[in-house]
Parts: sequence; C-alpha cells; structure tokens
Amino acid sequence: MKEPSATERASSLDLVRITEAAAIAAAHLMGHGDNRAADKAAVEAMRSTMDEVAFNGTIVIGEGERDEAPMLYIGEKVGRGVGPEVHIAVDPLEGTNLVAQGRANATAVMAVSEPGGLLHAPDTYMEKLVVGAPAKGKVDLDRPVAENLKIIADSLGGRDVRDLTVIILARPRHEKLINDVRAAGARIKLIDDGDLTAAISVAVAGTAVHAVMGTGGAPEGVLAAAALRCLGAEILGRLRFRNDGERERARKMGVIDETRVYRTEDLASGKDIRFIATGVTDGELLQGVRFFAHGIRTHSILADSILGKLRFIDTQHFEDPAKPPIIRL
Ligand code: FBP
Repeated sequence: MKEPSATERASSLDLVRITEAAAIAAAHLMGHGDNRAADKAAVEAMRSTMDEVAFNGTIVIGEGERDEAPMLYIGEKVGRGVGPEVHIAVDPLEGTNLVAQGRANATAVMAVSEPGGLLHAPDTYMEKLVVGAPAKGKVDLDRPVAENLKIIADSLGGRDVRDLTVIILARPRHEKLINDVRAAGARIKLIDDGDLTAAISVAVAGTAVHAVMGTGGAPEGVLAAAALRCLGAEILGRLRFRNDGERERARKMGVIDETRVYRTEDLASGKDIRFIATGVTDGELLQGVRFFAHGIRTHSILADSILGKLRFIDTQHFEDPAKPPIIRL
C-alpha cells in the first residue's frame, strides 16, 4: 500500500524520534540504581520531543491521572498542534528497574492510532496470554495451561510442548502458573520485569519465545496489543483489580467488566496503528543505546498496521550534524 501523505498521518520517522529520545535519556542512567531518575529522564525527553512533531496528540495511556503525573498524563494534549488528530499510549521506560540495575530488555515504547483506536485501560493488572500468529484464535484464557500449550505446540508445525519457551514474570502470584507450565513439560524463562517487551518477542519468529503467560500491567497489555495487531499475533487479557479503589477508577474510565476477556482487536481496535519501541538496554529483539565519541546509536522497531510492515531502524545520531563522526557499520 502507498504511504499516506503527511496531512493524513504523522511521519513515522518523527514518531521514532520520540522513543529514541526517551531511550537515550534513560540509557545515560543505566546501572545508576535510581529507577525514578531513569523514568523521569525518559518521560521528559519523550514529552519534549513530542512537541516537535506535527500531530494533534492526546495521551490515552500514560504516566497516570493529571493530579499524579506532571507530564504525559491521561488527557494531556501533545504535539505541535498541527496535522492529524491521534491518540497515544506510552510507556516511556518499560522496565525502570531493569535500567536501574543495568539488566537486559528495557525499552521506550509508544503506540499511536486514530482517535478511539486504543482502549483507555486503567492502571491496574491484567491477566494475559500472548501467542504468535499461528495460535491466534485457537487458545483460550480459560482453558487449562497444559491445553493451551498443546495448542501452541501443534500450531507451530507439530512441535513438542517440551520445546516451547514461555516467559513469565517472576512474582509470587505466579507460583501455580509456573507449576502448571512445568508439569506440562514446557520450558520457562522467568523475567524480573518487562512483560510488554516479552510479548513483542512472541510475535517475531526467531526469538525462540512462544508465549507470555501471567498477570502484569493493564496499560502494558494495551501497548502489547497495538504491536501484536500490526504483527498478526494475539493477546488475550482480563482486567484484575487489586482493591475497590482500582475498581472505582476503572469504572470512571468506562471500563468495568472484570469477567470480559479482551482480544487483541478489543484492546487496539484502530485501523491505523503504529507501534514504536527503542531499546534502552540490550535485549532479544533490540540492541540497547550505545554511546560513542561524538555520537549515539539506537535500535528501534516500527510496526505499521496500514502498510503491513515491521521495520528495524538502526540510527546513528551525530552530536554535530556539520561534523559527522566516523560512521560505523
Ligand atoms: P515499568 O514500566 O513500570 O518499569 O513496568 C515494569 C513491569 O514489569 C511491566 O512490564 C509489567 O507489566 C509490570 O511491571 C508488572 O507489575 P508488578 O511489578 O507490579 O508485578
């Protein structure tokens, strides 16, 4: 399909600049042991770069409600105020602890759609099952874990369940799930943080990750859905409220059904969705930010539902555009 014009759609490369800026800012603080500082740096860089981009943006998933987040709060208007209206979901730093500890797989993330195209998910938990395109429409959140694993294995050309790798957040709440996956014979990769980045890995063949299971953040679920929509993969999610306060907040946001299983297309229903992520620290899918004399190098993905493309974007940022440093392959 032909790329839509600049008046119809914000420039994809401008969108990538936004997550690149957040990733670079956070990467400067890698391993400093200060997750708040890393998150703040990513938020500020993302926010200021957004205002250089020609769109009329509204944050629908961000850093929280207006009274608790100074920037990128839900409902905030962002962008240069010219060009197309878009709704934006962000996680300026997915894996704040990972960056603070210098661990793998931290990313800066954003999804953009036409207005109404992304679910306004409350900042609560979501029970998730993420599978690749071959198992889409076949698995069920309410099926026993062993059955879902068998379906995933069969969908991958008749693999053995023993050959599957499932990513699960290492949390006490997942004790039963971990036991069930082990009993079924599948392999598990426990992660400290970052189930959104893990979900994207499932959609990309060659990462040797076949499913993500367990309960993580609901906003991360919507962002994952935006990526998976573009990549033909599947997330099934059910909201999990920890207390009445969360339930009430969700009700105010118009999301009340605790029993409903949301599919990918419910969480990210837009026609024109773009998902962008830039690596902060090295991971399975993306390299982290690398600093060199007079320049910085970033690695990003840009998935596009309209064009049907997944682009890997390797950018070298020169400190002084008039004096480019030695370019590295
Ligand atoms: P941050 O973006 O806040 O660093 O989230 C990291 C994360 O691990 C997500 O990937 C995950 O969905 C969520 O936190 C899990 O929440 P909890 O740490 O409360 O189990």
